[in-house]
Amino acid sequence: MSPLRHLISINDLSNAEIEQVFASATKYLSQLSNKDTPYRVSRSLKIATGRVLATLFYEPSTRTRLSFESAMLRLGGRTISSADPATSSAAKGESLADTARVVSSYADALVIRHPRDGAARLAAEYADIPVINGGDGSHEHPTQTLCDLYTLQREKGTFKGLNVVISGDLRGSRTIHSFVYALARFKAEIRLMPGGKGMELPAHVDWRLRNEFHSHPLPKAKIASANADIDAVYRTVDQPHQLALVTASDFVPRKEADIFYMTRFQKERWPEGKKDYLKIDSKFLRDRRYRNASVLHPLPRVGELDAELDALPRAAYFRQASYGVPIRMALIAGLLDLSRGSALEKFSSGFPKAQYPLHQQPRELGLCCVNPNCITHDKQEGPYAGNKFYLVQKDGLRLRCYYCETDIENAVVGNRKAKTYSAAGAAVKTGASLKDAVFFRSISDAARAGYKPQRKAQAAAG
Ligand code: NCD
Repeated sequence: MSPLRHLISINDLSNAEIEQVFASATKYLSQLSNKDTPYRVSRSLKIATGRVLATLFYEPSTRTRLSFESAMLRLGGRTISSADPATSSAAKGESLADTARVVSSYADALVIRHPRDGAARLAAEYADIPVINGGDGSHEHPTQTLCDLYTLQREKGTFKGLNVVISGDLRGSRTIHSFVYALARFKAEIRLMPGGKGMELPAHVDWRLRNEFHSHPLPKAKIASANADIDAVYRTVDQPHQLALVTASDFVPRKEADIFYMTRFQKERWPEGKKDYLKIDSKFLRDRRYRNASVLHPLPRVGELDAELDALPRAAYFRQASYGVPIRMALIAGLLDLSRGSALEKFSSGFPKAQYPLHQQPRELGLCCVNPNCITHDKQEGPYAGNKFYLVQKDGLRLRCYYCETDIENAVVGNRKAKTYSAAGAAVKTGASLKDAVFFRSISDAARAGYKPQRKAQAAAG
């Protein structure tokens, strides 16, 4: 039997598989759309008869849940849905791990949305049907990325090598995190335009882009110093006093953008509350750098894209939402092997990435994931989510949470047998075995656990 495929991160799909999904989506659109709405599936097939898709949503959704359900119905299958956590057993304290196991006996595939980063990976660990991530905290939203990339293909004729401005809440938007990885893999030139203060890409996403995907979005310092080739970005703000927000980091090079991708302020992921935020209108887009850019937005918009833009032919966001149906049809068909030529399991390894060793250590000893919103910190999931990390060895050692993929740098490595510790970088350099390793956040944590510095311990033994 072919291995079970899940789609948790966009990097679970290879480039060839992404292109395969697009080819099927195009086939569905050409078979099932009407002439005047070529971006919309208007008829149905019967290739999923007798198959069931479950949608398990612990966070609000319109597009993702309904387009998945519409996609399954258009394929001729059926759907079951839990869209309100207050009416599911989660309200009684059931773990996600148990729910995923149970739903596996009710459906052939499961789409999950959850407020915690890494929740979809946990569900996939316990389900024995394909699990699709419909958005987990601020981690990733891979199927939105498929819709976004496909929109580039439809609007610009290609999704490769484009010049893309990514704007808005780069920190909190999961759609952006999946999208920038995919753009980098398809050799886009990425320009980052945070929508407000503190809204830069998370450090670990930025590190991965540069070190694993070999993409180098223009760093702030360089933007500020490249003054021979910059213009001020025109910003529309709600209050006149907010014009003071324009700083050196609000400069971008003159090069024309193919795509302007905007996102909303993710208020549910900012406990600090409302922030000043960028707003885009037609005057902004008349700027030389954006005058030919198609405007994309995963939606919902809540004021950051002026409604007057809707009339522009290059305002692509509603077409982008329509593509959710054919793209998700193609994905379901691929994961469930519904028709010849659409099966995804032929490419079982996903994006060819370094196979990092996986390390697990007891939760009571040493470090845990540093992301407070990681599913591993959810009390209900405690017994089910392992304290697991990929050991990423590149310029020192990084511990990457198996679930939410947040990295820990500069950990201290201890030896459980010898009860000694050393800096992790040093242990990696000497090629020391990590078999008995336990990692700590700091030397003082290691000392508190009764571990001694390696050299001193050796000297004492000698
Ligand atoms: C996005 C999401 O849920 O992350 N919405 C969507 O699925 N189209 C974007 C957002 O909520 O801002």
